[in-house]
Amino acid sequence: MDWGMRNRMARIIKPSTGRTVMLAVDHGYFLGPTTGLENVGRAVKDLLPYADALALTRGILRHDINPHIDTPIILRISGGTSILSEELLNEGITTSMKEAIRLNVSGVAFSITVGAKWERNTILGLSQVVDEAEEHGIPTLAVIAVGKDMVRDARYLSLAGRIAAEHGARIVKTYYCEPGFDKVIDTCPVPVVIAGGKKIPEKEALEMAYKALQAGAVGVDMGRNIFQSEHPVAMIKAIKEVVHNNATAKEAYEFFESESKEKKVKA
Ligand code: R5P
Repeated sequence: MDWGMRNRMARIIKPSTGRTVMLAVDHGYFLGPTTGLENVGRAVKDLLPYADALALTRGILRHDINPHIDTPIILRISGGTSILSEELLNEGITTSMKEAIRLNVSGVAFSITVGAKWERNTILGLSQVVDEAEEHGIPTLAVIAVGKDMVRDARYLSLAGRIAAEHGARIVKTYYCEPGFDKVIDTCPVPVVIAGGKKIPEKEALEMAYKALQAGAVGVDMGRNIFQSEHPVAMIKAIKEVVHNNATAKEAYEFFESESKEKKVKA
């Protein structure tokens, strides 16, 4: 691996633990101003010090994020459909590699929809992105997007994750599943991170992160379960405890509770 690629990978996945907490705030590219991200700048301001990487689109990066930050950026470069479309997730390339370089990103993210009638477009799109990104030493994170008709089980997620890695993704983002998440990890030759999915109680989200890491995931690329929490800073800090400090789910939840209480007392 060339120096530039190794350096960017090391900025995303921390060499000290081999793990990462990515904060995902890219939802607006198909959901618009989703709950918690009405104003992304405000939503991430207090979270940034705890995020190992920040995942978002170029528009929000330019408008809402201070260029003086040292947080590595994973730039979402797929899209083209909205939540209103019947073809949601029929995504193409929305941002050029030249633009990604201009924005000094550490990685680019592209979704594939395995099993959808447009899977070919998304897989070929991923290949094109990988070709261009590799030329510049930029890692591609493949997002396993799961269409409405697909089941988020180990069989599907291993299939999709493996296809993403075979096409050159350096990191794969998938959902957690039970049973069989260890199979998803075992059959994917590149590091895997989990998305958080819809907001669930903090205790459950911490348990999910814990179990994913136990199965071999290198971290999370989590959004709603952080920014939609009543205590987003306490939540990202608790996630960090699981990811970087090997906290159990129980320890992390106790940490979350004490951090949120402390916040209430201060307020
Ligand atoms: C979809 O909008 C993106 O891929 C998100 O970055 C991903 O789903 C992670 O966010 P969340 O934890 O909210 O699912």
